[in-house]
Amino acid sequence: MNIIEAKDYQDLSIKAAQYIIKNVRHNPNLVLGLATGSTPKGTYEQMIKDFQQNNTSYQYVKTINLDEYVGLAKDDLNSYSTFMNEHLFNHIDIPHSQTYIPNGMAKDLHNECAQYDRLIHSLGGVDLQLLGIGHNGHIGFNEPNTSFKTRTHIVKLASSTRNANERFFQDINEVPNYAITMGIQTILESKEILLLVSGKGKAKAVQKLLVEKNRCEQFPASSLYAHPHVTIIADKAALSLTFERKES
Ligand code: GLP
Repeated sequence: MNIIEAKDYQDLSIKAAQYIIKNVRHNPNLVLGLATGSTPKGTYEQMIKDFQQNNTSYQYVKTINLDEYVGLAKDDLNSYSTFMNEHLFNHIDIPHSQTYIPNGMAKDLHNECAQYDRLIHSLGGVDLQLLGIGHNGHIGFNEPNTSFKTRTHIVKLASSTRNANERFFQDINEVPNYAITMGIQTILESKEILLLVSGKGKAKAVQKLLVEKNRCEQFPASSLYAHPHVTIIADKAALSLTFERKES
C-alpha cells in the first residue's frame, strides 16, 4: 500500500483530484469507479475546477459507482444518482449515458446486481476505483463480516452506517435499510484503488487498517491487503492515531 499524507482535507482533495486527472489524461477511455459520501466531495470540486481551467475531458470516460440505496428513485434528493449529478456529472463533459449507478428501484434487485457485474465486465473492468471508508471499516456498503468473495449484492445497512448517513436525511426513519453495493471481490478486481480518508473521526479505522494489518472479514477495508496496487491518501487528522502508535 502506498500512503500519501495530506495536510488537511483541502490538500487531500487536491492530491486525489490530481491523481485521478493524471489517469484520465493518460487514458481518455478510463473506466473510473466512483464513490459517494462527504470525503470525495472536495475531490470532485477540484476535478470540476480543473475541467473549467484546463479542459481535461471526460468525453470517453465511463464511470461506475460503488453503490446505491434500495428504494430511492434516481431523482430522489438523497439518491447517490442525484449526489453524483450534483457534485460531478452535471459540471464536466461526461455524457450521462456513460455514467453507471446501480438502480435501487429495480423490480428484481438480484438481477440488477448480476447485470451490474456483467456491465463492469463488458467495460473491461474498472481501471481506477475511488473508495472512502466507513467508521466500521466498510467499503462501498460492504459492512463488517461481508465475505471477501462477494460480487455486487444487496446489503442490510448496519445501524452505525444508517446513523452516520442520517445527516443527509430529514430523520433516521428516512434512511433506507438496504443498499446495492459492488462486492468486495468486485472492488478487488479493479486494476487500481485509491482510498481517501479524512478527519479525526476516521483515525481509529485508519489505525486498524494500517497498524493492525490483519486481513479479516470483520473489517472490510482490510481486504485491500490482497490488492497489488492500492494508494491511500489520508490527512493528518486521519493518520493521528497511526503515527502515535508507530512512534511509541
Ligand atoms: C457511505 C458510502 C461509502 C463511503 C462511506 C464514508 O456509507 N456508501 O462509499 O465511503 O459511507 O462516507 P463519508 O465519506 O461521508 O465518511
